[in-house]
Amino acid sequence: MTESDYGAWMRAIQLRTEQALANCLPESGIVPERLHEAMRYAVLGGGKRVRALLAHAAGLVTAAPAERLDAVACAVELIHAYSLIHDDMPCMDDDVLRRGKPTVHVQYDEATALLAGDAIQTLAFQVLAESPLDAAPANQLAMIGLLARAAGSRGMAGGQAIDLAAVGKSISLPELEVMHLHKTGALIRASVLLGARCGSAHDASVLESLDAFGKKVGLLFQVVDDILDAQSDTATLGKTAGKDAEHNKPTYVSLLGMTDARDMAENLLADALDALRPLGAAASRLAELAEFIVQRRF
Ligand code: IPE
Ligand code: IPE
Ligand code: MG
Ligand code: MG
Ligand code: MG
Repeated sequence: MTESDYGAWMRAIQLRTEQALANCLPESGIVPERLHEAMRYAVLGGGKRVRALLAHAAGLVTAAPAERLDAVACAVELIHAYSLIHDDMPCMDDDVLRRGKPTVHVQYDEATALLAGDAIQTLAFQVLAESPLDAAPANQLAMIGLLARAAGSRGMAGGQAIDLAAVGKSISLPELEVMHLHKTGALIRASVLLGARCGSAHDASVLESLDAFGKKVGLLFQVVDDILDAQSDTATLGKTAGKDAEHNKPTYVSLLGMTDARDMAENLLADALDALRPLGAAASRLAELAEFIVQRRF
């Protein structure tokens, strides 16, 4: 499989995800217009769509129908978009730039940002509940529960609480790992599992391999985010560079230094690829995606 094959696949999934998201979001002309406009502003026209890509790539392993994967891709990207709106608010990371545009609370106002996040989060669950994802209703319910757990206080939201509590503190490496596995890893892991569960085969060993991969890639994703925050620039990132150091956030770069943080990313990539080995060629898109996550520039 050549590099350009991967690039074409990635762009195709990004495009169909953009269309699926545009279709599931209320039109901005619908009352309350300002809220719907803010929701579309936050979700559409930006983002790498890594969580959607992971869902689609995992779906290739279990021969999942593309329409089911579109629904799951929308749901995980909606949860992600909501988490970014709230992450950027003054009470959290207080960021003014996201995906190369003013953040939602800057473009609109804080109350609109809060509500847009709330409504985007519930839309994610609406999409999962209203799309046919599995012939067996019990399996579909399990998928909804899986996303709820990944987004909640034992997943992403909990990780964000740990992140805020850690500002200005020196924490240990195991504590940092717990924080990253929750705030970023949980949703990435869920994206892989939800994509896989859109397929007919619910083979336990396949799901186990994918889950091991998802856990490693989830941590890897945030390690690379920490590295990029420290070494890249605002124009490339589309978000303010250097904010972690400025805000005294513990990161892999602040704890290990840049060289060891990069080594850690390479080791996590190797572990992620190892986890895919039992799945053979069906997992090649997932492997390429893991490489992309390490090599990305923003
Ligand atoms: C940024 O996520 C926030 C983290 C969880 C590290 P992404 O880097 O996936 O952001 P977009 O969606 O591409 O803008
Ligand atoms: C964000 O981590 C994680 C979530 C949004 C859940 P960061 O705070 O490091 O993300 P960026 O760097 O602002 O995108
Ligand atoms: Mg944050
Ligand atoms: Mg942030
Ligand atoms: Mg960051």
